[in-house]
Amino acid sequence: MISKVAIKRFAEIPTPFYYYDIGLLKDTLSLYTSLIAKYKYNAHYAIKANAEPKILQIIQKSGLGADCVSGNEIKVALKNGFDSNKIVYAGVGKSDREIKIALKSKIFCFNCESIPEIKIINDIASSFGVVANISLRVNPNIDAHTHKYISTGREEDKFGISPWEFSDVVNLIEPLDNIKLIGLHFHIGSQITDMNVFSLLCKSVEQLQCWFIERGIEIKNLNLGGGLGIDYQNPQENPIPNFKEYFAIIKKNLIVRPGQKIHFEPGRALVGQCGHLISKVLYVKNGKNKNFVILDAGMNNLIRPALYQAHHDIENLVSKGKTEKYDIVGPVCESSDVFCKEASLAHTNRGDLIAIHSAGAYGQVMGMRYNLRDLAKAYYSDDF
Ligand code: LLP
Repeated sequence: MISKVAIKRFAEIPTPFYYYDIGLLKDTLSLYTSLIAKYKYNAHYAIKANAEPKILQIIQKSGLGADCVSGNEIKVALKNGFDSNKIVYAGVGKSDREIKIALKSKIFCFNCESIPEIKIINDIASSFGVVANISLRVNPNIDAHTHKYISTGREEDKFGISPWEFSDVVNLIEPLDNIKLIGLHFHIGSQITDMNVFSLLCKSVEQLQCWFIERGIEIKNLNLGGGLGIDYQNPQENPIPNFKEYFAIIKKNLIVRPGQKIHFEPGRALVGQCGHLISKVLYVKNGKNKNFVILDAGMNNLIRPALYQAHHDIENLVSKGKTEKYDIVGPVCESSDVFCKEASLAHTNRGDLIAIHSAGAYGQVMGMRYNLRDLAKAYYSDDF
């Protein structure tokens, strides 16, 4: 819930902008890190979800490492204080330049997604005279029951190494001097709300790690990735995801060998609910069968509804009028620039402030300048 004090201050800020509730971010982190400590797990925040320096610094201070998917993310992680020893690096398309950045930064581990990638990392590590720690990102062929664009663990998805390639991978790695296999990595998708998917994942992890263990290969680290979803329908009622249930499911279903370390890469679950996109109504346009609320924020500021047909709760922060139905749209010259069709909103007028909730993850960071629109800036509750 956005405080009355904050809403008053919004009137002075040019819209659209992102507003982050730092109290909620800290409460979310506090529950997450207490459970991580309880189970002796390791966590690496998925920087791709939100890379605002202030947010990164708060997360870093809570003790988490970083999960990166580009050389620039590695640089930003280091700049904001993340320990290189706690940086993991995934991605199907690591360039030579990015691999060099990761090696020079002495990151903890590359999560490798293909056989040719392993060869190149070995070559570059050899030219540097170093040994690179790698985990194999495994594609376990599990349907995460989420939107097809954020499903990453099915055979047809581009991510990871399939089990049928294991023999080839092991044969490849054995003679290589500049690669050390330290674990297995999994990330099967994002915005996963069906908890059964995580127990299936744990069972699959066990089956797949057995393949290696039976061949005398030690798997020191198991990384289960991110993916835990948030409640986009009722953000006010469920501002913090059910981490307790999530970790209880992992604990119950994952077989951990002595000395093995378990890792996670949470993104959305940590930052999703603390961010709101704040916008102003430019026009209310009456159609024959529907009324449009035209905002000054568009798909260039928050692309999730246009790209994944994602639902975000939308609220008129100032009107006390009776509820009406509107199509809430942005100003961009694309028919997909729609935040919500048939949304229920208090009677809305030009100039009203509108909040699009649950926008802390994959919101600002996916912003773009299409139509040469400005990027939205960030404001923080504790600066008010
Ligand atoms: N680890 C890896 C290797 C990943 O690729 C991702 C997300 C995560 C961890 C963090 O997943 P999370 O805990 O946030 O679900 N733009 C999309 C989401 C893309 C997720 C990409 N990978 C969206 O707006 O829904």
